[in-house]
Amino acid sequence: DKQQNAGRSGRDAFTSSLGMLAATLGSAVGLGNIWKFPSMTGSNGGASFLFVYLACTVVVGLPIMISEIMLGRKVKANAITTLRKLSPKGQPWGIVGVSGVVAAFLILCFYTEVAGWVFAYIFKGLSGSVLTTDPKVASAAFASLISDPMQAIGWQWFVIVFVSIIITFGISKGIEKVTMRLMPILFLLLLVICARSLTLPGAEKGLEFLFTPDFSKITGSVILMAMGLAFFKLSIGMGTMMTYGSYFRDSQNIPLTAGRVVLADLVISLLAGIAIFPAVFAYGFDVSAGPSLLFITIPAVFASMPMGQFFAVLFFVLAAVASTGAMLSLFEVPVAYLCEARQMSRKAATMTTALLVMLLGAPAALSSSMTKDVKIFGLTFFDLFDFLSSNLCMPAGGLLICIFTGWVFGKDKFKAELTNHGLIKNEAIIDSLFFLIKYVSPLLVAVVMLNMLKVF
Ligand code: PHE
Repeated sequence: DKQQNAGRSGRDAFTSSLGMLAATLGSAVGLGNIWKFPSMTGSNGGASFLFVYLACTVVVGLPIMISEIMLGRKVKANAITTLRKLSPKGQPWGIVGVSGVVAAFLILCFYTEVAGWVFAYIFKGLSGSVLTTDPKVASAAFASLISDPMQAIGWQWFVIVFVSIIITFGISKGIEKVTMRLMPILFLLLLVICARSLTLPGAEKGLEFLFTPDFSKITGSVILMAMGLAFFKLSIGMGTMMTYGSYFRDSQNIPLTAGRVVLADLVISLLAGIAIFPAVFAYGFDVSAGPSLLFITIPAVFASMPMGQFFAVLFFVLAAVASTGAMLSLFEVPVAYLCEARQMSRKAATMTTALLVMLLGAPAALSSSMTKDVKIFGLTFFDLFDFLSSNLCMPAGGLLICIFTGWVFGKDKFKAELTNHGLIKNEAIIDSLFFLIKYVSPLLVAVVMLNMLKVF
């Protein structure tokens, strides 16, 4: 039915069940697992943060992911058109799609920058220039990369061009092909690094930190951060999953695919934690280093261990692979919109998106040099884009998608779509999912957001 699906609409689409899984997982897995998850877990108390994050993933993340893929597949269009077409007359749900495109740009602005550092570290790792056991020297090396405007912008542009080239090949020949090759590589690399980390003397302390919760460390802001991470991790609340859903085949079992993606993503985050924390503890580094954990602590940790250079380069290759799948899905949100609603060719749409990201991303890339003193709400451009997307746009978008699915789209259509019109016998699961999406998830997201806005 590959011919059928593509032929009917003349639209490119994923061609295999495994391809849909790989692309969706490719979107979810990214710097979120390797950069955000470990650094946020490290600076928010370890296992207790992991526990809240898990709860957010299951109760909020999974139902929203399923709804988004379902809505996208129903209309088979970009996020804005999908929501516009499904809106009852006079209701402006298309705005949720617009906010998704805005969020995609916000994320791309800082994501391409961090990905640029990762690519840079592959080369710097090969030459050995960032590998030192002295954390002071390691942080000076990192600072010299991010505070040099030429390097910061240069690596960002490198990444943007790299991703754009894959995007111009389209869905089946670009995104699907690339992610199907990359995901197994990523998994293997991660296992190799975990094996190295776990065999270091003193590794147990890292595992203990990751898996023994101290519930007194859970506060309102910890919950907000864990929820923001769940949204960011699963690429939800901003139209990515809707856009990918629009390339899904009608015969695909959406809840099963989404369930597998969420589980695999979680396993990868945990493996990243297992790769990082035992090594950090074994060599006595600080787990709460925050975002610099990946670029300062990790190279220093690697430099301390036997065969460190080899594993360090492997580690940054792994991070580069992961970030590529995620960036492809971020690009696809505006590209699909520009192609379909603005009648651009795929090339023109990709170039427009790339140029906009270069332009808007520059202030973020320069956050450690030229724009470092520009603070908006007390945040640099880099942190602002990160905060606005993860803690505002995505939860707000997710909340509205819950309300739309639960209260506007409605249970009958929800059931029809997710059972593939009665072909899959999963009614009990669909019923509980609908209950979550209609009442539980929106309430939780709303409470956490109101708490952030200091309403109570
Ligand atoms: N999920 C990706 C990650 O963890 C980031 C992402 C967010 C990708 C939103 C697409 C959309 O790195």
